[in-house]
Amino acid sequence: MRSARAIAHSNVALAKYWGKRDERLVLPETGSISITLDALWTEASVRFGEGDGPDLIEVGGAPAGPSDGRRTLRVLDLVRSMAGFSGTAEVHCWGNLPLGAGLGSSAAGFAAIATAASAALGLRLTEAEVSALARQGSGSACRSVPGGFAEWLCGRAPDGSDSYAVRLFGPEHWDLRVVIAIVNSGRKEVSSRLGMRRTAESSVFYDAWRLSVERELREVRQALADRDLTRLGEAAERSAMRMHATTLGADPPFSYWLPATLAVLSRVRVLRRGGTEAYATIDAGPNVKVLCRPQEVGVVEAALRDVQGVEDVLTSGPGPAARVLPA
Ligand code: DP6
Repeated sequence: MRSARAIAHSNVALAKYWGKRDERLVLPETGSISITLDALWTEASVRFGEGDGPDLIEVGGAPAGPSDGRRTLRVLDLVRSMAGFSGTAEVHCWGNLPLGAGLGSSAAGFAAIATAASAALGLRLTEAEVSALARQGSGSACRSVPGGFAEWLCGRAPDGSDSYAVRLFGPEHWDLRVVIAIVNSGRKEVSSRLGMRRTAESSVFYDAWRLSVERELREVRQALADRDLTRLGEAAERSAMRMHATTLGADPPFSYWLPATLAVLSRVRVLRRGGTEAYATIDAGPNVKVLCRPQEVGVVEAALRDVQGVEDVLTSGPGPAARVLPA
């Protein structure tokens, strides 16, 4: 039977991806670097059959929404064409991530789908090829394929063949922790795809953002190599604040932040003033992810739980690569 099951973990960008140079192939304007999150994952099962009926795509037991459905179809079609196979597919995804809340559900989801679908049709792809496949479902998903601390190479080739993620370090390299303050687990109003498109097309701050990325990539790479939390945290905060600043310069302007987002940022600064090294980063949503050392997780969790508007707090260490699971 042509079927396979795979698991992948979500990731948080330390140096952000924000804007595409090619929308269809999902090619980024800049490189980006992430930490994979062990605690947040998605599993995908993919089964291919003969016949020519429509594909079935389910997420958490319900039919996928139009955007997730379209992108899944794109990944399935790429896999079918690589394998020279023309039958139908049945895809089921489930996991422990709220959808569309900026917690990396699409990153984990498409990394798992690309891994499972290519295995189901017996394609012997390299990790880079699976990563490039996942990228075409959702850009950030390419970083969840190698897992650990991963860099998405921007690439130059017009066909996207050199735009995929590589592992800078495995999860065992550095026992860093990410404490996540959930201030709203609902679906965001502006998806990352639309948000980055609007920003790249219209933000008066977009060029400044693009020009700032190279330095942050260098800083993050070096900080990871040296396991230097101060350097990493400062670079990650700068990257996040500058990315979010571009949304305010867009036309029309928008923001992913809620009042509680600002309250958490302020609490993180209070923690630092008190001697706890904690640094904030935010993806396309209102939830705040705080980087810290394992021995300070208790203090950071308690401080974030105490902020008005924080619904929940969860903590993760670095997570592994996407992988095929036994049938
Ligand atoms: C802010 O990967 O979700 O989280 O490629 O359009 O699917 P698409 O976008 P997506 O964008 C993630 C944006 C970000 C930053 C990041 O993860 O690097």
